[in-house]
Amino acid sequence: MRSKLRDSDSAAVRALVAETGFFSAEELDVAVELVDETLQRGKASGYEFVFADKPGSASRIIGYACFGPIPATESSYDLYWIAVAPGSQRDGLGARLIRESERVAKSQGATQMFVDTAGREQYAPTRAFYERMGYRKVAVLDDFFSPGDAKVIYAKML
Ligand SMILES: CC(C)(COP(=O)(O)OP(=O)(O)OC[C@H]1O[C@@H](n2cnc3c(N)ncnc32)[C@H](O)[C@@H]1OP(=O)(O)O)[C@@H](O)C(=O)NCCC(=O)NCCS
Repeated sequence: MRSKLRDSDSAAVRALVAETGFFSAEELDVAVELVDETLQRGKASGYEFVFADKPGSASRIIGYACFGPIPATESSYDLYWIAVAPGSQRDGLGARLIRESERVAKSQGATQMFVDTAGREQYAPTRAFYERMGYRKVAVLDDFFSPGDAKVIYAKML
């Protein structure tokens, strides 16, 4: 696990997020933008990362999380992204990434972590993951992403 970014993380995040098969091309671009902005602006970007490097590779990752303070809130943080490579899922890596993100956020004064996900069937394992990690469902915005696909917001007190 490391939190310091490398130049190779931009391509590594794109490859990992694409590999999960969960995200659109537009979402891939957003994931990479957060990395690129942080490579350029450092901490001022407001994004923090936790990376799990691929064993034996200097430029690939098998998982990562991105989080940061929510602007204009006193101590609420958002988990913007979390992803684990399909071949490494169900092995506890997601749990380690989210716990490390919570630990760092808490050390910075965060009192609550929020995370959004989708309500459609494809995301049932993702919702099960958040619930197992102690997150509670605090809001459901029906038809948010598309008719029939809600945005589900989870939160956890840190
Ligand atoms: C969600 C994700 C990050 C979880 O990572 P992971 O490394 O597989 O999770 P872990 O192995 O740490 O799982 C921890 C617990 O979460 C729950 N969980 C994880 N995956 C699950 C699944 N597919 N079905 C049901 N429960 C699941 C289990 O309770 C699990 O504990 P257990 O294996 O002891 O039963 C990963 O599945 C992923 O990258 N999914 C695709 C991308 C995604 O949905 N990202 C979030 C976008 S909002």
